[in-house]
Amino acid sequence: MTSPVLSVNQLCKAYSNGKEALKGVSLSVPEGSFFALLGPNGAGKSTLINIMADTVLPTSGSIDFLGHDMFSERLWCKGNMGVVPQEVAFDPFFTPREVLSMVCGLYGQKPDMKWINELLERLELAEHANKNTRQLSGGMRRRLLVAQALVHRPRLVVLDEPTAGVDVELRKRLWEYMREINASGTTILLTTHYLEEAEELCDHVAIIDRGNVIASSSMKKLLHEVAGSYLWLRYRDDWELAATDVEALSEFNPRIDDGLLCLTLNRIDLQQSTFHHAYESARLRFGPPLDAGVCQEDLEDVFLRLTREQII
Ligand SMILES: Nc1ncnc2c1ncn2[C@@H]1O[C@H](COP(=O)(O)OP(=O)(O)O)[C@@H](O)[C@H]1O
Ligand SMILES: [Mg+2]
Repeated sequence: MTSPVLSVNQLCKAYSNGKEALKGVSLSVPEGSFFALLGPNGAGKSTLINIMADTVLPTSGSIDFLGHDMFSERLWCKGNMGVVPQEVAFDPFFTPREVLSMVCGLYGQKPDMKWINELLERLELAEHANKNTRQLSGGMRRRLLVAQALVHRPRLVVLDEPTAGVDVELRKRLWEYMREINASGTTILLTTHYLEEAEELCDHVAIIDRGNVIASSSMKKLLHEVAGSYLWLRYRDDWELAATDVEALSEFNPRIDDGLLCLTLNRIDLQQSTFHHAYESARLRFGPPLDAGVCQEDLEDVFLRLTREQII
């Protein structure tokens, strides 16, 4: 395995209202990886990212970034990292081009106009480059934040939901650009709710839930070792599971997805007996289904199963 760019060690954060947003998070982000940090709302993703951005103070724990301690060597770390926070906040008196030049200055770099123009072009801000940032739409401001995180050519880019609220086509182009940035050697860590896209783009993944890491590995390994199969049964399209039904089938971790009853089978190797057992359990309870089949879990299925398991 390649050496990590970032090692998060036992990071804890309790907010002043007593909310424990991170409960000892440890993560390792390999150099050059395209890393997805996933989790349901409120899992603690933004808290972790805001700690890296220096806008939230951790309660305890440490982060090592390329051999530098993130908390005692802040300046060095900031100079080598770009962070796009979830919340958009801008000084409304400058144009995108001015913002990008200024940010270079903050890192002690002379603005590289060729690179700034490329960023404006690729992030589809070129025609708005000389407008006041006040006039930009929410989506444009978010893209300007991405440009701002890349302008000093950092070794690590951290993006908190960069594509939230961005339409499909633009989202695809933004991902494509991130892929190019990653291919040129920059490590990318991002959060997103688009699990299908994360599965396609990212080579590493961590899932956090309620302040704990519940899975962390290469995407391949997660899909190979943690993903299993499930039996789906169609009864009616508008079906909902009642609590008593769930209880009766709880050993199969039942859920309703798109009107289908889904029962988790043996995770690693599907055995006939499990399939029959699941099918028979459903049939005894609900009668014969209209249709049924077996499917391999994708990232979204694994995500839903693991984050639901935490609740039960
Ligand atoms: N400033 C804050 N003060 C108190 N609680 C907070 C604050 N920010 C976040 N939280 C709480 O911490 C938990 C984690 O939030 P967050 O890191 O934003 O999660 P995510 O980004 O995964 O949705 C949530 O329960 C949230 O309500
Ligand atoms: Mg968040």
